Amino acid sequence: MQLATEYIRGELRPFYPAAEIEPLMRLIFAHLRGYGWHELLINMDKSLSADERLQVAAIVSRLQQYEPVQYVLGATEFYGLPFRITPDVLIPRPETEELVDWLLHSPLPENVSVLDACTGSGCIAVAIAKQRPAFTVAGCDISDAALAIARENATKNATNVTFFNMDILKPAITPHYDVIISNPPYLTTDDKALMPENVLNFEPHQALFTPSNEPLQFYRALADMGMTTLSAGGCMFLEINELYGAECVALLRTAGYASVELRPDINGKPRMIRAVAHAPVQASLS
Ligand SMILES: C[S@@+](CC[C@H](N)C(=O)[O-])C[C@H]1O[C@@H](n2cnc3c(N)ncnc32)[C@H](O)[C@@H]1O
Repeated sequence: MQLATEYIRGELRPFYPAAEIEPLMRLIFAHLRGYGWHELLINMDKSLSADERLQVAAIVSRLQQYEPVQYVLGATEFYGLPFRITPDVLIPRPETEELVDWLLHSPLPENVSVLDACTGSGCIAVAIAKQRPAFTVAGCDISDAALAIARENATKNATNVTFFNMDILKPAITPHYDVIISNPPYLTTDDKALMPENVLNFEPHQALFTPSNEPLQFYRALADMGMTTLSAGGCMFLEINELYGAECVALLRTAGYASVELRPDINGKPRMIRAVAHAPVQASLS
């Protein structure tokens, strides 16, 4: 009987480079059997049950359409935590983990309130709540379908996060927050030509593109919202398009933010900003 590994390699070879097939195979086996890395090495070449063979065939057929593996398996990891993922939510990216890391390593008081604006799968909000149980964490999004997944992810990770529907472009009056963090939509139709097909064909366009087709639309809205919603000394953490770092910094300074800091990601691209809202009243960020 043909081994599962041979079958998967053979089916995916015409579609993916060999270097991508091995990690895909590991994810498939981890999904099917809950294997960790070590068990995988020992057991990967065992044959599959009839039911597992059917599951593998279905997975392989979706991968052959270039559907992202996170949607095929309905799962991913973010900041070391498991997340359920469906086509209603953006697949969390490693750059966003870096933004979360910046917040977690910033000198904030012990019990701040945090809003994750444009929360999607809830990955940012849930990761922060898990790492800082004393924080009060909320997440908002315009998509009810995304909010349902975010709520599932909060439960899955035993965290306490409040999720609510809000259009960031027409914000209702919100309570004060000490911190706003956001990875909003920032792409325009001009970016489409450079985007991989699997992103364009499978990820939700509402999560990727701005409705006005203007790259800074959400940053303007978030900057204004922060100036009315953030407590004195509170701060904003934003993931940005690497092409608009200077523009985002200028926009935040013009809106009245102090200490606007642009930071590169692990690949050296300017991908995130921390900005402090007006006069700090307590020792936090300068
Ligand atoms: C780039 S995704 C980020 C998702 C998640 N925070 C992450 O980093 O993986 C942007 C999110 O913004 C939401 N969104 C789009 N337009 C919005 C609006 N006007 N108000 C609030 N959320 C919006 C989308 O539904 C999507 O979940």
